[in-house]
Amino acid sequence: MLKGRSLIDPMDFTVEELEEIFKLADDIIANPKEYMHAAEGKILATLFYEPSTRTRFSFETAMLRLGGQVVGFSEPNSSSVSKGETIADTIRIVSCYADIAAMRHPKEGAPKVASMYSTIPVINAGDGGHQHPTQTLTDLLTMRRTKKRLSNLTIGMCGDLKFGRTVHSLIKAMSRYDNNKIILISPDELKVPEYIKKEMLDKNNVEYKEAKRIEDVIDELDVLYMTRVQKERFFNEEDYIRLKDSYILNENKLKSAKDDMIILHPLPRVNEISYEVDNDKRAYYFKQAKNGMYVRMALMAKLMGVL
Ligand code: NCD
Repeated sequence: MLKGRSLIDPMDFTVEELEEIFKLADDIIANPKEYMHAAEGKILATLFYEPSTRTRFSFETAMLRLGGQVVGFSEPNSSSVSKGETIADTIRIVSCYADIAAMRHPKEGAPKVASMYSTIPVINAGDGGHQHPTQTLTDLLTMRRTKKRLSNLTIGMCGDLKFGRTVHSLIKAMSRYDNNKIILISPDELKVPEYIKKEMLDKNNVEYKEAKRIEDVIDELDVLYMTRVQKERFFNEEDYIRLKDSYILNENKLKSAKDDMIILHPLPRVNEISYEVDNDKRAYYFKQAKNGMYVRMALMAKLMGVL
């Protein structure tokens, strides 16, 4: 039963529960009109303590497309947070008014704290450099729809693997399915943190290797997951400037890629994917963003217990 639960970490739901969400998302994509009134009378609160376009809009449009309504803030300075209110108190109050909440926060663990004090489901919409489970639902749904499977895949994850929370969540999620191989492509300074290697990859016996250049491994990949260098999590600007253009995917680099490889990116893109790639049939990042809205519709409907 997903009703009443929160989603804080990609491992909070079983593989079977995820499947339930993906099946509903598939049906919403096929028959959107049938779901127009599913959440009538329900209210989503979006508590965004950190900037976002896609994630917040996709949550909000997801709720509106289910027939529900939305309140929230995208700028903590315009709420009582600026008066010093704690997360525990904010969520206690929000629980009185709304039926479900989505929270993004620069501090790791903040949505988890909120879920401990909340009487409504809380969804982690990204906490610092930690996790981003609904982006992972988006990524998994996109792979499931294009590759028709979530196992037996070779996935290259490229860019800022140190601070990129989408990558951390995706590694966690993919390590649960059989026979996936992960290739981690990053400069030395932006490698995946050791705890992820130990606790996710080694613990689950996931085959993985590290690489420095996209060109050296691209021919092996079924999925190439590009990410932006996470400027806001750097301690000094010099390091950011030195590393920001480490990877730029272009048509030339794609020459040796498989014909049916898919290119994903959680977006926003900065420089990592040249615009010329947008016209390549393997570019899936915009469709992926659209899937993000549908999977959030399915997720919220399940957590609110309306479907
Ligand atoms: C990601 C995030 O916020 O972590 N964006 C998103 O939610 N689609 C990726 C990023 O900001 O680089």
